[in-house]
Amino acid sequence: MPGFKGLAVPGPSNMPFRIRQAMDVALEDHRAPDFPQFTQPLFGDLKKVFQTKSGQVFLFPSSGTGGWESAVANTLSPGDKVLASVFGQFSLLWVDLCQRFGLEVDVIDVEWGKGVPLEGYLQHLVADKEHKIKAVLVTHNETATGVTSDVAGVRKILNELNHPAMLFVDGVSSIASIDFRMDEWGVDVAVAGSQKGFMLPTGLAVVCVSQKALMAGERAKLPRCFFDYRDMIKANAQGYFPYTPAATLLRGLRAAVDMLLEEGLENVFSRHNRLASGVRAAVEAWGLRICAQGSEWYSDTVTTVFVPEGFDANDVIKTAYFRYDLSLGTGLNKLNGKAFRIGHLGWLNEIMVMQALCGVELAMRDVGVPFEPGAGAGAAVRYLSDTGQAMRIAAE
Ligand SMILES: Cc1ncc(COP(=O)(O)O)c(C=O)c1O
Repeated sequence: MPGFKGLAVPGPSNMPFRIRQAMDVALEDHRAPDFPQFTQPLFGDLKKVFQTKSGQVFLFPSSGTGGWESAVANTLSPGDKVLASVFGQFSLLWVDLCQRFGLEVDVIDVEWGKGVPLEGYLQHLVADKEHKIKAVLVTHNETATGVTSDVAGVRKILNELNHPAMLFVDGVSSIASIDFRMDEWGVDVAVAGSQKGFMLPTGLAVVCVSQKALMAGERAKLPRCFFDYRDMIKANAQGYFPYTPAATLLRGLRAAVDMLLEEGLENVFSRHNRLASGVRAAVEAWGLRICAQGSEWYSDTVTTVFVPEGFDANDVIKTAYFRYDLSLGTGLNKLNGKAFRIGHLGWLNEIMVMQALCGVELAMRDVGVPFEPGAGAGAAVRYLSDTGQAMRIAAE
């Protein structure tokens, strides 16, 4: 089909040409004498993206799932208790990983469409007088439902109770797109992947770890090898890696971090918020329901949209894909067939959002979903034009 393929899934996200070019290089010697001159500033600048001074960044050839595994395997022992909540496919999978590692997981089941239940966490932590809970898990942005949770709120509870549990955050679909503050929120392990806010191909787990979690690692007894932070620390201190790094992806990561810092994190976050608000305006105008149950849960990187009763969301997704070359996210797990997802993260502007929204309209009309053609696109145009105009006036 002629023309660009549209990629409106919540990761992989669209890859900027600058990043492609940065990776269009000959393969290189990762033991070259000048390799540390490339890696050490990269580690330093990545800390800015996590908003940390004291945390340590690790780069594994992996995906986000490996980042989860690294968090658990490096800091905990068999039978340790962790507190988690499940409200979508990714929070569910992280719990499954913990259970497969032989951890005892206190799981709070939450209706899909809401996020981390602060009240529930409070109750479990208050009841945990002997401090058996060693880690508290938070999926910052549940990519299945388009729900963002309050990490700072969890930190506040831990502080108020003086509870020593570590705070682990899955930031795979939030970090580098939505505000994330490692130090201020007292996060002990933050997990990101290369294919979302970092705008790269899949292949890197980008993890940031607090000194407290590194210390816990000294006592932790779960087996670890590939993801052992201690091996990374030793090699990274010299600017190298304990095994062959994904050097080409690291070249791309350098360009990604440059782009993020040049735009400014604040601007990156507000761009995501504005574009996401445009998408939400469109969904409302279509008369459809967003999975996130209220504005406090809205995600600025992905919107999960229910199709009306009697329609199959997969028909919309397939029609968008086969007729219009547009990839939308599928409904995961129990949302399959009921919802589709619009990803709006990474390297994205108004036109790319409009392309996705118009693609959704074309596909929905083709399969007979009732709505007024142009209603959603029109609402987004109004929102994006009005807010763009206000921004230009404010900048003058
Ligand atoms: C919130 C979240 N956590 C974890 C993962 C798993 O990451 P990966 O697929 O890169 O292993 C994903 C993937 O989409 C995700 O969205």
